[in-house]
Amino acid sequence: MKKIVLLGSTGSIGANTLQLAADFPDRFQVVGLTAGSNNDKLLLQIRRFRPQVVALADEKAAERLRRQCRSRRDLKDLKIEILSGMEGLVRTATLDEADIVVSAIVGSAGLVPTFEAIRAKKPIALANKEPLVMAGAIIQEEARRRGVAILPVDSEHSAIFQSLSGQRRGDVHRLILTASGGPLLDLPLAKRRTIKPAQALKHPTWRMGTKITIDSATLMNKGLEVIEARWLFDIPPDRIDVVIHRQSIVHSMVEYRDGSVIAQMGIPDMRGPLAYALNYPERLPLGLPALDLTKVKALTFELPDHKKFPCLGYAYEALKTGGTMPAVLNAANEIAVAAYLSGRIGFLEIARLIRKTMDGHVPQAVKNLEDVLEADRWGRERAMKAIS
Ligand SMILES: NC(=O)c1ccc[n+]([C@@H]2O[C@H](COP(=O)([O-])OP(=O)(O)OC[C@H]3O[C@@H](n4cnc5c(N)ncnc54)[C@H](OP(=O)(O)O)[C@@H]3O)[C@@H](O)[C@H]2O)c1
Repeated sequence: MKKIVLLGSTGSIGANTLQLAADFPDRFQVVGLTAGSNNDKLLLQIRRFRPQVVALADEKAAERLRRQCRSRRDLKDLKIEILSGMEGLVRTATLDEADIVVSAIVGSAGLVPTFEAIRAKKPIALANKEPLVMAGAIIQEEARRRGVAILPVDSEHSAIFQSLSGQRRGDVHRLILTASGGPLLDLPLAKRRTIKPAQALKHPTWRMGTKITIDSATLMNKGLEVIEARWLFDIPPDRIDVVIHRQSIVHSMVEYRDGSVIAQMGIPDMRGPLAYALNYPERLPLGLPALDLTKVKALTFELPDHKKFPCLGYAYEALKTGGTMPAVLNAANEIAVAAYLSGRIGFLEIARLIRKTMDGHVPQAVKNLEDVLEADRWGRERAMKAIS
């Protein structure tokens, strides 16, 4: 029985993880859950999975949850700790009983809990890519020092991880990340200015949280994944390529020096890569619909249009610049996406805001997590000032 702490349980990856826990009760036990502020959803999860610790980032939401739990008869006998704030998230992430931590908070809020889970020597099933974007070198160094495995959940990185299995690292020529292209792939540049969030949130192949769906529409998600791949697989940016693959069947590929390409395929369902990370190296009978390539018929691959999707280039640039620049890129993107979703800026301004914030930043070397958090603060402030 594997005991799971799930950070970000009320989100899309959280729901998929809990679905797996419900489908395989003899394999997984949920011992800890965390969320941002959604106490109602967390309450439902507590009733279903009966964890020993939960935490909400928002103090008031945690207080509401305590009141809800006290008033429920079915929870009277449950010994549960309800924690709050960053301290509560970290305590849950480092729970003694946990065998594995699923890192599925969205954005930079996941950095400290994920880092502390690594320091507590917990294997990580990593969905939350932003911490690696912000602090890849520091996180990987900490994981190496503590002998902690970081198992990718992102479908692209899971595909690369699987395609590297049994191969010699020295034989790898390049990684090829696939991208669906998101909902706006074919929309001409001139029409992008007026795109409303409702349109940008209509992803053609994946159901995901709002932030990552907008990141998919700008291709920033692929840029963040390039940075994630650089740190997960220790490979330089000029050997990581991106191709548009509309069908989301080939999840990514590795090209070897003899010209062979190994790819991993499957239907687009996050339970595949999640279960692989949670139960590695054993595969579980997930009962998902079979991939029928005769129905898919054609698999297509195209080069991304950097004029339409400047964010992809900005991510490469930030990665090559290094130091604090990736954290600043990430911070500006988080602020820009939130501003777009709340109607404060237009779609094209997401990229402009990131560009402006990066242009105003003088990158510094990163020695520790505090340097990264400081760069994150700087990037947020600068981007917010630019909006207002
Ligand atoms: N969704 C996918 O299919 C997918 C695929 C690959 C990678 N990922 C990555 O996985 C991560 C999660 O994505 P998602 O789509 O599951 O996001 P999501 O649906 O938006 O869920 C985000 C989760 O994070 C919590 N959260 C938000 N702000 C927080 C804060 N300040 N402190 C603590 N918790 C906070 C949310 O809690 P509340 O509900 O209370 O706000 C929720 O549980 C992202 O980094 C994404 O890039 C996702």
